[in-house]
Amino acid sequence: MRDTSKNKIIINGPAKLNGRVNIAGSKNAVLPILAATLISDKRSIIENVPVLSDISNMISVLKELGKEVFRDGDTVVVKPAKELKSSASYELIKKMRASVLVMGGLTGRKKNIKVALPGGCAIGVRPIDMHIKGFKKLGMEVGVSEGFVELKEKKLKGTRIYLDSPSVGATENLIMAACRASGETRIENASVEPEVLELVNFLKAMGISIKIEGCIIKVKGRKKFKKVKYKVMDDRIQAGTYLIAGCLPGSEIKIKFSHPGVLKTVIDKLQSSGASIKVDRKYINVKAPEKLRSMDITTAPYPGFPTDLQAPFTVLMALADGVSLINEDIFENRFMHCPELLRMGAKIEVKGESAIITGTGKLSGAPVSASDLRGGAALVLAGLAAKGRTEVYEISHILRGYDNIDMKFRDLGADIWME
Ligand code: EPZ
Repeated sequence: MRDTSKNKIIINGPAKLNGRVNIAGSKNAVLPILAATLISDKRSIIENVPVLSDISNMISVLKELGKEVFRDGDTVVVKPAKELKSSASYELIKKMRASVLVMGGLTGRKKNIKVALPGGCAIGVRPIDMHIKGFKKLGMEVGVSEGFVELKEKKLKGTRIYLDSPSVGATENLIMAACRASGETRIENASVEPEVLELVNFLKAMGISIKIEGCIIKVKGRKKFKKVKYKVMDDRIQAGTYLIAGCLPGSEIKIKFSHPGVLKTVIDKLQSSGASIKVDRKYINVKAPEKLRSMDITTAPYPGFPTDLQAPFTVLMALADGVSLINEDIFENRFMHCPELLRMGAKIEVKGESAIITGTGKLSGAPVSASDLRGGAALVLAGLAAKGRTEVYEISHILRGYDNIDMKFRDLGADIWME
């Protein structure tokens, strides 16, 4: 793991990016998969695990719960726990919301589970009511008190669960919980994001029968599981971020990513903005247009436009000709990067869940602060496009999801470093 005490990224722009970039394994697929190792007492080998602080945090949670976890490069081995524990402390949970996924992993293994309730975060309140409703339907008694969620198992039984909206985390937690329930669980209006499908594939490799029909996920519970070795797909949000970087003025890059299909909505939008994008077996080849055209996006569950790429897209809109519109339909507060972009010369008006961006064609370097992971990545992209020196502070947010971001952009020709 790199030294994360470094607290700013400095960029002398503008950069014209050129060359190839590799994409790390998918953070948001590895996190639920690590939680899913709690379901069984057999060892799990997970390959293509990115070196990121969020992943180290999840490994710490597993260790706190008693699992033995070893990391060798991008491979993580999770061995059975000598004694599996049933409670995860606030100290660990507060570092990363995804730790709530251990509730699903522990369901059916422990009679009383106690996991600290995560608070809100910069992008929204982020309640876990749908997770709780689903656990109750599966036969758990759920209470929330003194900052903890307590789950008591009565009789875990397959059931029909309808999610009010296709929450990624609730779907993942409930699929895992259903793995040990008797009979079949049917989750309707489930999330079918590629990362959820990665979890499903991992669980299938463990021997669990799971069927997906549109937005319905059917899980047949069992008590015995197989050892598993699973290679996680590359990170589509990281690939999408570099794809957007390849559309910055004067850039032309190759992104090593072999699942271009999962980025179709993003690629379509970038093409409509004038970018040239060609996909071959291994690479997505992207060339920036002479002049970016304005574009409108509305975030939506997969296969709609991913909310995680909304902030990076804002930077292209700030550089484009004309007026662009963003509707953020997933999180209620995901425009924290906008006031920072204003400081770099962007023209953005945020009204509730929308942002109206009037392209100015240029940005200028400035000191700015990251408030969340993707908003932080947007500020790095803005710094690459801007004339002059940009200093991005609070980069611990960025390092949660982007490995070696400075080195990768340096290899693409940017004057960027961490200090
Ligand atoms: C996952 O978060 C991702 N995190 C997020 O990635 C991503 O932005 C998000 O899905 C949407 O795609 C991980 O996979 C670790 P949700 P999650 O439950 O599971 C509301 C990144 O930058 N909701 O689908 O927390 C919620 O408040 C991140 O890598 C409820 O109201 O997302 C939000 O508005 C950040 N009640 C919306 O649904 C619930 O019980 C979507 O949340 C659950 C969610």
